[in-house]
Amino acid sequence: MAGSTNIDMSRARGEGQLRSQGPVIKVEHLTKTYDDKVVLDDISFELARGRVYVIMGPSGCGKSTLLRMMIGAEAADAGHVYLDGVDTTLADKKTQEEARRKFGVLFQSAALLNGLTVAENVALPIRQHTDLLKSTIDLMVRLKLELVGMGDAAEKFPYEISGGMKKRAGLARAIALDPAIVFYDEPSAGLDPVMVGVIDKLIKDLTSKLGITSVVITHEMPSIFRIADEAIMLFGGKVVFRGSPQELRQSRLPIVRQFINGDPEGPINAPRQLAELSERLFGSAKKPAIDGGGTG
Ligand SMILES: Nc1ncnc2c1ncn2[C@@H]1O[C@H](COP(=O)(O)OP(=O)(O)OP(=O)(O)O)[C@@H](O)[C@H]1O
Ligand SMILES: [Mg+2]
Repeated sequence: MAGSTNIDMSRARGEGQLRSQGPVIKVEHLTKTYDDKVVLDDISFELARGRVYVIMGPSGCGKSTLLRMMIGAEAADAGHVYLDGVDTTLADKKTQEEARRKFGVLFQSAALLNGLTVAENVALPIRQHTDLLKSTIDLMVRLKLELVGMGDAAEKFPYEISGGMKKRAGLARAIALDPAIVFYDEPSAGLDPVMVGVIDKLIKDLTSKLGITSVVITHEMPSIFRIADEAIMLFGGKVVFRGSPQELRQSRLPIVRQFINGDPEGPINAPRQLAELSERLFGSAKKPAIDGGGTG
């Protein structure tokens, strides 16, 4: 039995693996405008294999938009995305489908189907993209659920499990087909600090033990410093910073400093408007509390 399973497993593998020796992802002159707002303005970068990249930046700066372009879920106005050396923006359906097999995605909501058990959710992409035997799929699903520490919850329905468990189940589904790249859109949003640590460790382990390239959108500063090999910060449609967590910590760029310190004042002006509104409504935070008591 183990023998036949091994043959099937090797058929399931391979297709999701990388072929080129070059960058895993190359984004070239990517531009996207919604209505008259330029969200991505001629962005270019390359990501190497087996590393954790964090994409950071203030709310609305275009992180999720960039992710949607990288996974081919939305077309850019101009520019190119190369996955494993293949220009997915120009590719035909078959080439796009091949490229699709190379990555998994963990969306912010985890996006599990409520009518299916955790195990059935994880099995879904394998059933959709392969013709493997049920016994093989069951084995692959069990492996993936064990990897994310969800072996005991296989038969539970999504509404029976916590937010952190949903994230882990979503992660098991994202890696179901052994992808070379995993994209995460805010994997830690809404989780307690311990669960954030659990997800961070999983991302690190998947990257180091399975050689996966991880692209993680996150606002969590502790996570960025824990998991990133490199951080890329977006602002005003541009990449304004790229570097190691150490370089991020030492950066003198006002935008970076404001972001990592969470200052309401600074070049990132959406929070500033909120700060001004707050000041108008509640008085200046700089005044002693006794002076701030009155209105006007
Ligand atoms: N389909 C769309 N149609 C119109 N505008 C859009 C669309 N998608 C995104 N936008 C706009 O593009 C900008 C970037 O949005 P995006 O969701 O990429 O930001 P983000 O950096 O992921 O923000 P957050 O941290 O809040 O998730 C925002 O101003 C948003 O309103
Ligand atoms: Mg987003």
